[in-house]
Amino acid sequence: MTYTFPHRHLLDIEQLSKNDILALLDLAARYAEQNRSPRKKIDKLAGKTVVNMFLESSTRTRTSFEIAAKRLGADVINFNAALSSINKGETLLDTMRVVDAMQVDAIVIRHQENGIPKFISQHVNASILNAGDGANEHPTQALLDALTIRRHKGKLEGLTVAICGDVEHSRVARTNIRLLNKFGAKIRIFTPPKFAPKDLSALGVTAYPTMAEALKDADVVLMLRIQNERLAGGEFTMSSEEYHRLYGLDHDKLKAAKTDVIITHPLPLNRGVEITDELADDPTYSLFFEQVEMGVAVRMACLDMLLGNRA
Ligand code: CP
Repeated sequence: MTYTFPHRHLLDIEQLSKNDILALLDLAARYAEQNRSPRKKIDKLAGKTVVNMFLESSTRTRTSFEIAAKRLGADVINFNAALSSINKGETLLDTMRVVDAMQVDAIVIRHQENGIPKFISQHVNASILNAGDGANEHPTQALLDALTIRRHKGKLEGLTVAICGDVEHSRVARTNIRLLNKFGAKIRIFTPPKFAPKDLSALGVTAYPTMAEALKDADVVLMLRIQNERLAGGEFTMSSEEYHRLYGLDHDKLKAAKTDVIITHPLPLNRGVEITDELADDPTYSLFFEQVEMGVAVRMACLDMLLGNRA
């Protein structure tokens, strides 16, 4: 039976069924192969226009969306927020309507406020792809993490996943939790009390008091940095050295996990804070750059699913 992606926008993981996620991952796996071949570029989205509208900093997501769209043959415009008429008082919605009026096919939005991509999606014709909104959602990050995990574990079902660090301010943590919960993962968190999510039970995760307990027999460890940009000034005063001693990961602490454990991290890294240099650079465990590679493939799959069959 032919599968048709039933969504016009990619706003969050909740909207996706298990079937949607598996279809996206299967297509992304094919694009990952293609991206390693000499013929990386196809014309699947020739004639389509994708606009990257990043109103918050990004290296990986913005660059990989641009590469993904270009590999599929689409035209890509990178909106420059700093030089835009938002600085003259134009509202974000009017700005988005202006871009939409140019008959673009997709708008990729990153914004520091929760819910902005969903709000914009209610007012434009273009497909909206959420590239990260506040501490809420980052669906393509969760999909690329899932693809990376599946490449190493062969499945997503029933894995034990420990998420360590600033969970409260992390859209990556929330989105991974939502995706992994759909596959029956056992999700543990280990976090400074200040960074424990307020909606712990609603998220369906269990908090552990020590890293050793959180990591015991884990298949996957997701490490997070402190999201300083989402903290009010002076809210978290622990020194980097103390944080590393109490909450950072090193080879010794990792021994509590399964011997074939893998570590993921959305990057950017704060080396020597949430993870030692030695462990971050140990390819036996740390898959951070493979995650980046899978990010291009996943974003190709998302753009293809959303735009590939649209007139
Ligand atoms: N992982 C991630 O979202 O990285 P960027 O902020 O650089 O896009």
